[in-house]
Amino acid sequence: MTRYYLTTPIYYVNDRPHIGHAYTTILADAVARERRLMGDDVRFLTGTDEHGDKVERAALARGLTPQAHVDDLAPIWKAEWDALEIRYDRFIRTTDPDHVAVVGIALEGLKEGTAPDGRPLLYQDAYTGWYCVSDERYWTEKDLVGGRCPECGKPVEEIEERNWFFRMSAFRDALVEHIRENPGFILPESRANEVLGFLREPLADLCISRPVERLAWGIPFPWDPGFVTYVWVDALLNYVTGAVDPRAGETPEATARRAISAWNEHPADVHLIGKDILTTHSVYWITILMALGWGLPRQILGHGWWLWEGSKISKSTGNAVRPADLTPVFGVDGLRYYLLREMTLGQDSTYSYDSLVQRLNADLANDLGNLHSRVTKMAVRYLDGRLPARPDAGGGGDEAFLASTAQRLTAGEGGGRVASAWREWRIHTALGSVIELVSATNEYLERSAPWKKAKDPAALRDVAATLLHAAEAVRLSAALLYPVMPDVAGRILRSLGRPAVPQAADLVWGILDGEEIMAGDPVYPRLEARTA
Ligand code: ME8
Ligand code: MG
Repeated sequence: MTRYYLTTPIYYVNDRPHIGHAYTTILADAVARERRLMGDDVRFLTGTDEHGDKVERAALARGLTPQAHVDDLAPIWKAEWDALEIRYDRFIRTTDPDHVAVVGIALEGLKEGTAPDGRPLLYQDAYTGWYCVSDERYWTEKDLVGGRCPECGKPVEEIEERNWFFRMSAFRDALVEHIRENPGFILPESRANEVLGFLREPLADLCISRPVERLAWGIPFPWDPGFVTYVWVDALLNYVTGAVDPRAGETPEATARRAISAWNEHPADVHLIGKDILTTHSVYWITILMALGWGLPRQILGHGWWLWEGSKISKSTGNAVRPADLTPVFGVDGLRYYLLREMTLGQDSTYSYDSLVQRLNADLANDLGNLHSRVTKMAVRYLDGRLPARPDAGGGGDEAFLASTAQRLTAGEGGGRVASAWREWRIHTALGSVIELVSATNEYLERSAPWKKAKDPAALRDVAATLLHAAEAVRLSAALLYPVMPDVAGRILRSLGRPAVPQAADLVWGILDGEEIMAGDPVYPRLEARTA
């Protein structure tokens, strides 16, 4: 079995999840399910980023200690992911003891190591500059835009203190070379060019500590209790910790050692992130791993923004639309489908209530739901719910056309159109081609018109054959949609006498054979347009 390790960002627990966080996590879940469906041994990691100024201030604002605050919020994030059918393998919290141990081991490793130029990797120096609490990023005077954070536009705070520094500058050439020699390492390609552009300037060293007098809420430096770890260094290392699960009775240090070996044996195949945190991942993270001599992730994919009717959704701008605002109307699967069908990975996408209604009515209620309901109802009415055995099936129309349309999706170059679209991160086209099969099947039914032929007993064999082929197309479509819509797909598959969770062997044309069909509730309801 091929191992596939994928991660989402770990989100700050200063608030509850909104659609942007849900998007990355749903994307990861769908990719994980698609890989499992193809037979891979998948590890899917998500979690919460619990240290640092931002979280500490959110706790203070609620009159709670940071620990009480994160203990209160982490379960809310978990429950949110459960409700969205997200099946991660580990939910990591940066306050987990094995993670604290990994950070300690990494810092010690840096302290003992030397840069390619022979100088120590870590040194102490005075830091003077500006800090953005919202993004937890250090900036120099010239980075600022109008005196504010260049990333989020919020005010920054002047900082002057002694700190520990990581000699990141010494890894610039190695990083540039790695990016150039590994096309597809940073995706989309335009983002790789942005990073290379940034690396044309000299690379500064990275301040990796904060004095405890300024910030106590962090992982202490193992050899210097006067400092806690810079929250980004702490956070990025979660990907290493999360490579394993702690075992009962094991010390955090032992788990941490096991995690580091597991990471080095098989680092992440992909870090799914938004474009806001591309630099921290492709520059800070990669140079830290290079300095430690640990394995590098295979891909970093920076997707674009979801904009709500034009402006970026975020916790701080107050237009945070939460998943629970939408799922009562559109359903969990509807929301998952919409987000993955509408976003071209890498670009920004605007969503609105009306476009949700439009897309879901067209693809799910009309095309898919209608096809499923026609086929199952006719099978019950004309065939007593029993499809014919395949060898008997002839047909009264263009079955060959339908079969070849279906086969293009799952057979041929790169495992067919759907699998190759997933591999190339064109998930919206993977879904688009499944819906094309659904529409082609609706047209096939129109042309074969089994409801007309059913009046003539002599034509019953043709009717049965038509319904077998149409049901087969519905079955294959549902199996291909499963990673994105596990519930809708599962209900369709069960109504066709198949297991709710498809396997790789189900992704071929021509499996239904004498199955018993049940006509049930519509798989996706028609939505009403909003009345203003
Ligand atoms: O940056 N559209 O956490 P964070 C799409 N803790 N995705 C969005 C989005 C939007 N409008 N808004 C947020 C942090 N996201 C750090 C990460 S990782 C080692 C540490 C998603 O809570 C997107 O994935 O600010 C983005 O990168 C992430 O949420 C930022 O979450
Ligand atoms: Mg952020």
